[in-house]
Amino acid sequence: MGKRITDKVTWVGKIDWELKTFHGDELSTHKGTSYNSYLIRDEKTVLIDTVWNPYDQEFVAHLKEDIDLHAIDAIVVNHSESDHSGALPVLMREIPDTPIYCTKKAEGILRGLYHKDWNFHNVKTGDTLCIGENTFTFVEAPMCHWPDTMVTYADKEEILFSNDVFGQHYATESLYDDTVNQKDLFDEAEKYYANILNIYNPMVNRKVKEIVGMNLPLKMVAPSHGVIWTNHIGEIVEKYLQWSTNYQEHQITIIYDTMWQSTRRMAQAIADGIRDFDPTVRVVLMNAAKDDKNDILVEVFRSKAIMVGSPTVNMGITYAIAGLLEMIHGMKCKNKKAAAFGSIGWGGGGEKRIQQRLEEAGFEIAAEPGKQLWAPDTEAERKWREYGKAFAAAVLGA
Ligand code: FEO
Repeated sequence: MGKRITDKVTWVGKIDWELKTFHGDELSTHKGTSYNSYLIRDEKTVLIDTVWNPYDQEFVAHLKEDIDLHAIDAIVVNHSESDHSGALPVLMREIPDTPIYCTKKAEGILRGLYHKDWNFHNVKTGDTLCIGENTFTFVEAPMCHWPDTMVTYADKEEILFSNDVFGQHYATESLYDDTVNQKDLFDEAEKYYANILNIYNPMVNRKVKEIVGMNLPLKMVAPSHGVIWTNHIGEIVEKYLQWSTNYQEHQITIIYDTMWQSTRRMAQAIADGIRDFDPTVRVVLMNAAKDDKNDILVEVFRSKAIMVGSPTVNMGITYAIAGLLEMIHGMKCKNKKAAAFGSIGWGGGGEKRIQQRLEEAGFEIAAEPGKQLWAPDTEAERKWREYGKAFAAAVLGA
């Protein structure tokens, strides 16, 4: 059975406690997730979004406990990605003529994903759909997360169905923002933002400001993942406005990989040097091969600068650092500084490759790449400490 939200709105989604990775293996979801779907019973009955394909049968079976499927007058697809549209093929087999309201781009994607000629009705910003006491207003939100994304506002309920925007990969039975651990909630919202939406900062920032500017009465913001925002709407909106403007804290993150501990010892000496320059700066060290890649990206997101180190291996860099640099490239960070370092044997060159990838990823290089032949001794560790201090001075100023 679904969970009642208001007299007219029922949550009919799927809480996925087991999910450990999302987008294939691209995104870790330590706390699971949910695929939120909402049933609005007014004079007309409308379903907003569905769930991911593996749960399609379960979703439709549970939906039938709430409603005769033939009583559904319309389906709103805010976003066509599989985690929200995945149950449509099973559902539409039962109610094939039901109109689907979505953006033109979403129709194209749904056709591409499922190859079905469903009863599509394209909507754009400002279009409305009266379903009784409520009128839905649709607002396109391209690149929040895909080009097709839109959000839907129900005026009588005063609920914004915001899809991925304001979402979190956070499984909870209790549904609401004030019923969960607050640190976990905002950490998961931040991880979601850093890993999924940071690349689209300008579009997210414009859209959130546009929605704020509409001055909609809001009792709830109901995203498609995680909790429904009720008592902390202002805080999550404020967070989004901060996160979408080249966010940074007073932090430098050192990401390294190591084969025989030389690059690790460089990283630790560099960290000491950074704190010599400014004891107030938060210095975070992460091993790319051991720490969670998406948690590392959150630390990159929070940082004013990063340092990335790898030993040279086979004239290149380690698998973990190479993969992580590709992910950092995809974040499209702005206004952050960086430097590369690493240990070498007879050849070297890994540090130059890292620097090149950092430049391609949009980082301003704040120090020449540091390279250590074989292993550092105590004197070399002092040198790397000075190197860290000079990097901090270049990043943080005198
Ligand atoms: Fe939750 Fe972009 O899908």
